[in-house]
Amino acid sequence: MAAAETQVTGPAPREAGQCPAAQGSALLGSASLTDPAISAQPTAYYDAMRALDPVHYDEKLRMYLVSRYEDIQTVQRDPITYSVEHGYKAQYAAGFFEEFQQILERDGQGYFPDAIMSDPPYHTRIRKLMDNAFSAHRVRQLEPLIETIVRETIEGFIDRGECDGVKDFAVPVTIRVICEQLGIDVYDADKIQRWSIAVTQQIGRMQNREQMIANARDICDLQNFLIAHMRDREANPREDMISDLVHARAEGEDNPTLAFGEAVSLVRALMIAGNETTATAMSNMLYILATQPEVAELLKESADDDRLLSRFVEELLRIEPPVRGLSRMTTRPVELGGRSLPEGAHLLLMYASANDQQDVFPCPRTFDMERSNLGRHVSFGGGSHRCIGLSLARMEIRVAAREVIRRMEDFRLTVPAGDLKYLPTVATHSIECLPIAFSKRA
Ligand code: HEM
Repeated sequence: MAAAETQVTGPAPREAGQCPAAQGSALLGSASLTDPAISAQPTAYYDAMRALDPVHYDEKLRMYLVSRYEDIQTVQRDPITYSVEHGYKAQYAAGFFEEFQQILERDGQGYFPDAIMSDPPYHTRIRKLMDNAFSAHRVRQLEPLIETIVRETIEGFIDRGECDGVKDFAVPVTIRVICEQLGIDVYDADKIQRWSIAVTQQIGRMQNREQMIANARDICDLQNFLIAHMRDREANPREDMISDLVHARAEGEDNPTLAFGEAVSLVRALMIAGNETTATAMSNMLYILATQPEVAELLKESADDDRLLSRFVEELLRIEPPVRGLSRMTTRPVELGGRSLPEGAHLLLMYASANDQQDVFPCPRTFDMERSNLGRHVSFGGGSHRCIGLSLARMEIRVAAREVIRRMEDFRLTVPAGDLKYLPTVATHSIECLPIAFSKRA
């Protein structure tokens, strides 16, 4: 396929008639990534940061936003200077941590810090133990099952000619896939979605105390639910991820098995990371299909060719990354992007901004499946913390894209794009509810 045929210009509204630098500094001076309008449509804010202040201090967040591709790479190459553990802790339940911890200890069988959100050498051991649950052969075997799940989910709404792309499609598909993987046979999808949001909001920096308490209660329910399954698999191992983690061994390590609290935190991490992010990617796909018919046409042309479908998925992940910002904290004074940072500076790595950088991805708001550097996007992070579930995520999105375009066409939003609401978090860019209409393909 010729490159020209695979380029579609996406919506990148810019206000006309004003010098971009003046527009940018006005935007940076007065605004925060947490402002709802910026949080929902952040492109101009990212542009301004990269151009004018690449390691920008956001006063409201009290974090430095690292917006350029090369600075994010620098951070990812040095997990000791830029600590995940310190950054994550400082962000977790920010402002309410002690109360949050007490609720979990009282009603959720304990507060179990995220073992994977750690630094080497501890992180290296945990990652090795977690790898047990991600054998390549397990992911490869999954495709027929994922196909069945996607098809059955589509069957549930296709005759209506409309659906909520989040609630009727993306969320049920991803929850079913991760529950199958974990070995959870009976579950309430609405609860799992609520629990997922409750966990991701702990790093979202946008919850008030009332929301924190409600979220903490949801996380207690989640832990009690998962621990019951873990206790069962301790005694009755099966072919599933919970069993893999409960019985994981890393030969050659001084401490070759997971402590119970570590295992709880990893099962919880898989349940949430495997669900929220991938569901967001699928919702973003439907949003693009409904707002850019040219992209829907590209997908139609790619549906029967796995190579093209994979390229479609990579460009989708680049142009609309589900995870837009994750944190780090400096463990020593350091210079980054021309700014001197003290020890203890709290950073937010703006993956979504790096993916939009013109000199790395020319015409970044153009959906271009033929980019020569398609795989360079940072939507899965990089370095030692690169997403452990990326093969599973890619496969799910690829199968979802193929099955959607084989069965449906003529996607439209049924509300104005400006009315769509996004979850209040700086960590992901997740549409809350996506009402769309479509025609069933003959
Ligand atoms: C489209 C879907 C997904 C996206 C966009 C995504 C994105 C990411 C990103 C950006 C990171 C890096 C974190 C950092 O820099 O600190 C990450 C890490 C991680 N992801 Fe994913 N992810 C996805 C799907 C999944 C799935 C399906 C699973 C598991 C079932 C998963 C499990 C994890 C875990 C456990 C980590 C932590 C790895 C570490 O710190 O060593 N993710 N993911």
